[in-house]
Amino acid sequence: MNARVQLRPDVAEIVPYKQGRMAAEDAFKLSSNENPFPPLPSVAEVLRELPFNRYPEGSAAAVRERLGRIHGVSPEQVVVTPGAVALIGHLIQATCRPEDEVIFAWRSFEGYPQVAGAVGVRTVPVPVLPDGRHDIPAMIAAVNERTRLVFLCTPNNPTSTIITRAEFEQFMAAVPPTLLVALDEAYIEFVTDPEAVHGEELLDRYPNLFVLRTFSKAYGLAGLRIGYGIGPEYVADAVRSVMTPLAVTEAAQIAALASLDHEDELLERVQVIVERRDRLAAALRAQGWRIPEAQGNFVWLETGPELVQRAAEIFEEDGSVVRALGEGLRVSVGEEEAVEKLLRSAEKVVAMLRQPAGARG
Ligand SMILES: Cc1ncc(COP(=O)(O)O)c(C=O)c1O
Repeated sequence: MNARVQLRPDVAEIVPYKQGRMAAEDAFKLSSNENPFPPLPSVAEVLRELPFNRYPEGSAAAVRERLGRIHGVSPEQVVVTPGAVALIGHLIQATCRPEDEVIFAWRSFEGYPQVAGAVGVRTVPVPVLPDGRHDIPAMIAAVNERTRLVFLCTPNNPTSTIITRAEFEQFMAAVPPTLLVALDEAYIEFVTDPEAVHGEELLDRYPNLFVLRTFSKAYGLAGLRIGYGIGPEYVADAVRSVMTPLAVTEAAQIAALASLDHEDELLERVQVIVERRDRLAAALRAQGWRIPEAQGNFVWLETGPELVQRAAEIFEEDGSVVRALGEGLRVSVGEEEAVEKLLRSAEKVVAMLRQPAGARG
């Protein structure tokens, strides 16, 4: 009796989503772009007496209403999902048939190919420029009659580079208005570059734009899983139609509302992380790293594919868990105490990269 049920053949091809490694207790976890600050006491407080014998209010109406007011749109234009990663999948489900195509930059967020594979659509990864930025002309050229959805990620995970407003406008002017463009702004709160695009300012102008946001990063709610999107109401409705019912927990919803109540305090923490990021990036450059302009809560250290694993091991041996991704390391901006340790390891890695191939241990 070793008969097996029949699975979709293409499922075997999907590379499962790989999470940033968990860290031992005495190590810094800098592998998942999380917020290093502990939950705000005022946010933790609202979770204490949650009646979780009841189902959540499935449409997250209070959160949508609040976000609608903040962003100057109707609550119906907002859709709340268990993390932005779920929304990425739902946008693909809502737009694509198996023969249709989804375009994204590469390297970018690993969720795009994994989720697109899970839905069963064709993916078109467009290589980023040598400086880690989206290659907008190449992305425009990749659009064809089968393209149903494009993800633009700013700041881009893992390179931490932004898309400028001018580049975004160039892209939108060149693609058909019937093509849905998802602007993934998971890290937008950390952006300081005045040239950067801010999607919510452009929603009126582009009826094919959907903006993705999350409470996981700047708002520190990664463990509760809540993200959202804003765009045309009929697209938000389509997402609601394909969503897993009741997937956003009441805990996530009330924590999101409490975080918005205490936004000033959270944005002060964001400022601390931004200042730490800029200091870290400057120190890394002084060591000789050529790193792209970092605008997320992480920096990108390109090592080349041959040495990336060894480089990750050096950081880990020294007590920092970072994320090895193909040709480089993505390092989250973590606790203040993590910075010095990180810089010591980075110095060792840069020395290794400088050695001629034969001399490396
Ligand atoms: C670019 C980008 N988009 C979306 C997400 C998903 O975030 P979440 O599902 O936690 O909201 C991430 C998470 O790391 C990300 O890096």
